[in-house]
Amino acid sequence: MKKLLLVIISLHLAFASLAKEGMWIPLLLEKYNIEEMQEMGFKLTAEDIYSINQASMKDAVMIFNGGCTAELISDQGLIITNHHCGYSAIQSHSTVENDYLTDGFWAMSKEEELANPNMSVTFLKYMEDVTDSVLKGVEETMAMKEREEIIAGNIKKINDQATKDTHYTATVKPFFHGNQYFLFVNEVFKDIRLVGAPPSAIGKFGGDTDNWMWPRHTGDFSVFRIYADENNEPTEFSAGNKPYKPAKHFPVSLKGIEEGDFTMVFGYPGSTYQYVPSFHLEMLTEKVYPGLIDIRTHKLNIMDKYMEQDRGVRIKYAAKNAGVSNSWKRWRGEIRGLDILDAQQKKKDYQADFQEWVAEDADREARYGNLLDEYEELYATLGDVRLGRDMLLEVIFRNGIEVTNVASMFRPLINIYEKEEEPKAEEIKKIKVNIKKDLANFFKDYHQPIDKEITADILSLYKENVNDEYLPAVYEKIARKYNGDFKAYADRLFKKTMFTDEASALNFLEDFSGRSVKKLKKDPAWELFENFIDVYSDQLYPLYQSFNQKTDSLNQIYMKAQMEFESDKVLYPDANFTLRVGYGKVKGYEPRDAVKYLYQTTIEGIMEKDNPDIYDYRVPERLKELYRTKNYGRYEEKGTVPVCFIATNHTTGGNSGSPVVNAEGHLIGVNFDRAWEGVMSDLMFNPEQCRNISLDIRYALFIIDKFAGAGYLLDEMTIIE
Ligand code: ARG
Ligand code: ASP
Repeated sequence: MKKLLLVIISLHLAFASLAKEGMWIPLLLEKYNIEEMQEMGFKLTAEDIYSINQASMKDAVMIFNGGCTAELISDQGLIITNHHCGYSAIQSHSTVENDYLTDGFWAMSKEEELANPNMSVTFLKYMEDVTDSVLKGVEETMAMKEREEIIAGNIKKINDQATKDTHYTATVKPFFHGNQYFLFVNEVFKDIRLVGAPPSAIGKFGGDTDNWMWPRHTGDFSVFRIYADENNEPTEFSAGNKPYKPAKHFPVSLKGIEEGDFTMVFGYPGSTYQYVPSFHLEMLTEKVYPGLIDIRTHKLNIMDKYMEQDRGVRIKYAAKNAGVSNSWKRWRGEIRGLDILDAQQKKKDYQADFQEWVAEDADREARYGNLLDEYEELYATLGDVRLGRDMLLEVIFRNGIEVTNVASMFRPLINIYEKEEEPKAEEIKKIKVNIKKDLANFFKDYHQPIDKEITADILSLYKENVNDEYLPAVYEKIARKYNGDFKAYADRLFKKTMFTDEASALNFLEDFSGRSVKKLKKDPAWELFENFIDVYSDQLYPLYQSFNQKTDSLNQIYMKAQMEFESDKVLYPDANFTLRVGYGKVKGYEPRDAVKYLYQTTIEGIMEKDNPDIYDYRVPERLKELYRTKNYGRYEEKGTVPVCFIATNHTTGGNSGSPVVNAEGHLIGVNFDRAWEGVMSDLMFNPEQCRNISLDIRYALFIIDKFAGAGYLLDEMTIIE
């Protein structure tokens, strides 16, 4: 107990002097946070952040395209997010002739903005604690399955009631692992147009070399605009739609920042795992991450090799490569960060104290006495299943063997022919049109030699890493017919399959009839895909699901227990892609012995990194010219232009694009990353090392105005000088 007290005291001290760990619920700021925020320098109220009675910051923050955050910066629907969040949209408008990824894109008037079918942004209208209604009829002694059914029924009722007679959508999400529930009522806009993006040499400057790292010099932003119907309500794209008029947009501050300044990040953190037991960290860092890192290292090496040789291939694989690389690099950082923190041991010590506390009371003993043993038993077998499942997904999805994805596009045709003797011509036609679209999309970004090399490589890696019981049937064939030679197998597969070029896939599609089913089933790419899917659907998926149910159930109890155990502390709920507030201060850090990182980077650093021989560090000529002539305008500070800064806000994936505001609530930056030494913050936050990285808004405006000559956009912003 004494040890525990010491831990608590030292944690409190750490928080007071440094970072504020936590991703807080906007609705509860008044209760838990606002006082501390104001002590740290914040000048506004909780109502200014979240309110249902007046326009508040929440009306200017949105989910951007399902995985990022964005914010309004004008009263004409103008929004800013990261370059990497707009990346696939920018890429989808790019060709070798009109290469917006490389050259950037700027609409010089509203007419020139580019529509993005399938893109959406989601605003929160209001949220509400619905725990009691969700748990109505649920007993503590119920089996998980029964509990889940009752909850699902209750949630449906709540959602239906919340959206009745409105154009809103609603979702109920569990907090604290099912110990609390909130309803979110949202408004979704669907006509979102690309307004501008800097060239990748600015928006992705430093590329994957600098990704997850500080010091950083990336101008990671892109600009879009929301359109609405004549009533200012959401509608599908139509040329006649009007720019959305929001209740609130962020004023943009040119005043700059100093070390120690208050900062707040308001956005959509995806997922964190702060309350898991030590066994979870052990599973991830010793089993799952190493396997995943291995398979992705191979994918990346192969892609890189071909991308370096050919500009067309580089464009085709740019987004795929960035996607594969991003988590690959973070996993490595997480392993390192947790190791340095001695995180497993910290959790074990905590668990020992917890266990002691449980033993002090018979009632607790009855409820929580076996919890840790049950976890231990569960994790003893969960690791292999999780690794098998993740590795399998790496093989046939996630830029693994791509040709199997083409084969799988034909699944709907097979389904219909297997169900009906004489399917309706109309229906067949509809399916074919869709497949044709998918094929065009796919082949636009496909390079067969990459796929073939990856295929041979990762089939072999899967075998090395995963338990034999999860080997698909095809491995037996590779052993028998190819003597275990994966390269020979891949050579043959790519020679024989119909699916490596668009013309032959299209041919097959056009003539598809009842007789084609047999032919399709004999195609080696189809066979490979089906073999893996069989293992997935017969073994790994159901196993993983049942493990998930057990972990969910234990997590719910353990969370409840931890809240009792630490009842003197206000715990924050794990991230679950709902709107959260993080707050902290602008602050540098010491990454390793004798090294100190400052809090801010400037354009000087871009010029230092400039190297025409390294793709990631090629500085555009125009930027060099602005630098030479010191043509900085009002974005200048101390003779230079600030580019990025770091602060102690607790953020995670999904927070990209989040507004970073100062004590007055003015926009000073756009969040886009975390620093390498602190990426383990999803599992354990270290106030000394965890920093979020933001783009300084002045650099974004400098690029828009001076570099791109799109200064007209600044006229619609509210600029604080
Ligand atoms: N690491 C950042 C985040 O997780 C940015 C990723 C995009 N950039 C890249 N070079 N892959 O999303
Ligand atoms: N780059 C991340 C994102 O895209 C942010 C992070 O993980 O810190 O959301």
